[in-house]
Amino acid sequence: MSGHIYGINGPVVTVKDAPELAMMDMVNVGELALIGEVVGVEGDTATVQVYEDTSGLTAGEKVVGQGAPMSITLGPGLLDDIFDGIARPLKVVEAESGPFIGRGLAIPTLDPKRLWDTQILVHEGDILQPGDCYAQCQETPLILHRCLVPAGLSGTVSRVRPDGACTVEDVLMELTDERGRTYPLKLSQRWPIRTPRPIAERLPIHRPLITGQRIIDTLFPIGKGGAAAIPGPFGAGKTMTQHQLAKWSDADIIVYLGCGERGNEMTQALEEFSELLDPKSQQPLMCRTILIANTSNMPVAAREASVYTGMTIAEYYRDMGYHVALMADSTSRWAEALREISGRLEEMPAEEGFPAYLASRLAEFYERAGYVRTLEGREGSVTVIGAVSPQGGDFSEPVTQNTKRYVRTFWGLDRALAYGRHFPSINWLTSYSEYIADLKPWYDAHVSPKFMEDRQRIFTLLQEESQLLEIVKLIGADVLPEDQKLTLETARLIRVGFLQQNAYNAIDTYVPLEKQFRMMEVILALYDGSKALLARSIPLSQLRATGIFDRLCKIKYEVPNDSLDRFQGYEQDVAEALRQVDEANR
Ligand SMILES: Nc1ncnc2c1ncn2[C@@H]1O[C@H](COP(=O)(O)OP(=O)(O)OP(=O)(O)O)[C@@H](O)[C@H]1O
Ligand SMILES: [Mg+2]
Repeated sequence: MSGHIYGINGPVVTVKDAPELAMMDMVNVGELALIGEVVGVEGDTATVQVYEDTSGLTAGEKVVGQGAPMSITLGPGLLDDIFDGIARPLKVVEAESGPFIGRGLAIPTLDPKRLWDTQILVHEGDILQPGDCYAQCQETPLILHRCLVPAGLSGTVSRVRPDGACTVEDVLMELTDERGRTYPLKLSQRWPIRTPRPIAERLPIHRPLITGQRIIDTLFPIGKGGAAAIPGPFGAGKTMTQHQLAKWSDADIIVYLGCGERGNEMTQALEEFSELLDPKSQQPLMCRTILIANTSNMPVAAREASVYTGMTIAEYYRDMGYHVALMADSTSRWAEALREISGRLEEMPAEEGFPAYLASRLAEFYERAGYVRTLEGREGSVTVIGAVSPQGGDFSEPVTQNTKRYVRTFWGLDRALAYGRHFPSINWLTSYSEYIADLKPWYDAHVSPKFMEDRQRIFTLLQEESQLLEIVKLIGADVLPEDQKLTLETARLIRVGFLQQNAYNAIDTYVPLEKQFRMMEVILALYDGSKALLARSIPLSQLRATGIFDRLCKIKYEVPNDSLDRFQGYEQDVAEALRQVDEANR
């Protein structure tokens, strides 16, 4: 299964005399055995996209097919580490070849020498089906790694190894199928990255991914198993938002994919996540995190593959019964990789030079998100959150528009808000979540039956504010009736005291749902009480003079997450301010 290089155009290589190469086959290109994948076949000519730098490659060098689609190794040791777009461990690559990724380095994804204290869960004679768990080991203090029989394989356990220390390459047991063929099963397994891993069934989305970010959890929540996009212009806070979600969201596992962005951001992520502790378990965040870095200085074809590598790893842990969140920063850089390769393949360009299959690639990616019943019968999910960086912040460009078709949560970042240092700069007028109805029963049961009602009132006040501000622009605020002034004052409190959230403040960076709810309750109690007073022709200025609106703006910094009893103080302050104004007008 080999041929010869005939033409080279950047990452795209034409191979002659290769009648046996099939579409999607993984190949080794040239003397350095660079890793590539067949993306086109015509007669005995194949087109290969190469995941490594092709400089120095010459015509005539040999190309060898591996007879299998582009696959990665899955197993313990993925967590708490950083990989490139085709799952090579970057720390090992760097140790062997320095900071510039060496080429043709056949470095295994998982350390072949590392020993894992493994428990075998099956006995000779057991009959196993796809998805059955045959062994487990504690991968990190947070995550039990469970080895499942791969899809398409079933049979009788014919040989088992005793419990104890094993490498990812040791055979743990053998499975013999009906026809007498035996298959060795290990701690690790291979999976083709472009093939979604099978599940038993999709389940409805019914519980939120809790992020601790108020504007997300309260106004525009995402369900576990859902898909969201964060489009935003340069510097609006896409990466920061993704980092906040990676740090604080209540997923069991985070796969963080740095796709075509600056390399120092990934270094920063690695450093920060190693230092921070998971709020639930007090273990380092990296114990539940996998980083995949294909930064702007790395080969463009590997960037194309990196999203599938990330997704396959996410699905692998989902199948063990975990809730996984996959962050991709940025899907625009991925789309640009598609465009570049498509151009080299001389395909007919569609909108803005992107290939005609941009939409279907985006759809395939986001459709791999979902809340599922696994083959084993457990529940697991993959939530996908993709940053989009449209040029000039223009949301009408093809990547943003096509992404919008496949995600149900849209957190649109806004240049003006970011410029005014309103962070997160998620614009509450253009953003949306289509999961509200799906998630309401969960919020009713786990936070308060009033949560979604309060949310709706907050949301309505913000919308009314935006309409009133149009009028104010024309005629000024002074002529507005008092109750509309109250709407403006309350909406300001909501924006400053509730929506703005400072990622650098120890108390404010992560806020549990209970605190979010209590904050809404206090704000709405002030609004309702004020409204009753205004109905008696008392001017709003008297209420403002009490300073209560400004006081409530500070709750976010003054009430630590573990001292929510302090809310009583604010509730009393609201009652006291209302009482004062009431008495002064008796
Ligand atoms: N929640 C937040 N709290 C405080 N500051 C924030 C927040 N979000 C963003 N910022 C500020 O905005 C700056 C830019 O954010 P970030 O790097 O995430 O933008 P970006 O959209 O990813 O930019 P690029 O287009 O360059 O990738 C941050 O360095 C930070 O100072
Ligand atoms: Mg960024």
